[in-house]
Amino acid sequence: MAEQAGNLTFGIIKPDAVRAGKTGAILQRITDAGFKLRALKLIHMTKPEAEGFYAVHRERPFFPDLTAFMSSAPCVVMALEKENAVKSWRDLMGATDPAKADEGTLRKEFATSIGENAVHGSDSEENAAAELAYFFSRLEFV
Ligand code: CMP
Repeated sequence: MAEQAGNLTFGIIKPDAVRAGKTGAILQRITDAGFKLRALKLIHMTKPEAEGFYAVHRERPFFPDLTAFMSSAPCVVMALEKENAVKSWRDLMGATDPAKADEGTLRKEFATSIGENAVHGSDSEENAAAELAYFFSRLEFV
């Protein structure tokens, strides 16, 4: 996979969006935007798994709420392929705070607050590789 690292990123459809029945609508938006799904699964993280995933934020005041929320219900984890994948996926998601997200972005349409903001995306190629490896084994990529 190393040769394709620049074209891959990691995404999550978060528990708020899955709970609201928006998984299908968000996947449609993702494929309409030209992303190819390379790996996909529904998971329900434990609190320690969510804490491990968001470890870089462990000193932030929102860490307890964030990890409680992310382990509160199932979410969908994804490997997304497109040219310039990290930036393309972040552009489609919109700003972290839905109040600041542009029209046409997923967070503008589906997010309700900065904490429950519908989707996650890696912020760099390096973190995309680490986050993909956290959730997927090699055999789960197509
Ligand atoms: P995400 O892209 O998943 O990465 C970290 C998450 O922390 C972020 O989206 C937000 O959902 C969540 N979060 C909660 N509160 C804040 C905050 N005040 N600032 C930034 N992120 C926050």
